[in-house]
Amino acid sequence: MNIVGPELDAADECEQLLRSLPRWFGIESALLEYVKATRTLPTFAAYELDLILGFISLKEHCPGAWEVSCIAVHPDNHGQGVGRRLHEQAEIWLLNQGTHFLQVKTLAASHPSPEYARTRGFYERMGYHPLEVFIDLWGSRLPVLQLIKCIHHS
Ligand SMILES: CC(C)(COP(=O)(O)OP(=O)(O)OC[C@H]1O[C@@H](n2cnc3c(N)ncnc32)[C@H](O)[C@@H]1OP(=O)(O)O)[C@@H](O)C(=O)NCCC(=O)NCCS
Repeated sequence: MNIVGPELDAADECEQLLRSLPRWFGIESALLEYVKATRTLPTFAAYELDLILGFISLKEHCPGAWEVSCIAVHPDNHGQGVGRRLHEQAEIWLLNQGTHFLQVKTLAASHPSPEYARTRGFYERMGYHPLEVFIDLWGSRLPVLQLIKCIHHS
């Protein structure tokens, strides 16, 4: 597996990848924003030969405080360590940018989606701590869990 970034020119491949995950990226306007962001935000992608396996986009909100804006791994490759590799690469890069905090927002446990339950499991495995639930940040039917991870030299 080969990781490239943080500048990526692979919007079409990223779009196809997100379209392979309709249970997570079923809102068309949001999907298109994530695709566009692969060109404008620091983004790392994992490849096997010339096949994209996954990508992660990162957004800086305040100095030293970043967010995982989007992470996605092709469903054929879930559970094979691709997400971990992408996240580790992102953390190395963020550490070099002087980052202290990394946050991510995802669907909260009060939503019944079994897919997002798996996503929360992944984030907790990556070392995030649940911080706060926002009941209407994404609209009243999509409760949002904010998770945070401190980034530091080990
Ligand atoms: C979430 C996602 C990026 C994870 O990528 P992945 O390649 O499947 O994950 P990995 O195989 O690298 O797993 C990394 C670790 O997380 C753990 N993990 C994965 N899913 C888990 C779950 N449901 N519960 C607990 N731990 C889990 C793995 O066991 C692994 O732990 P280890 O490395 O210590 O053995 C991927 O499944 C995905 O694209 N999901 C759909 C899109 C999505 O949820 N995006 C985020 C929207 S907010």
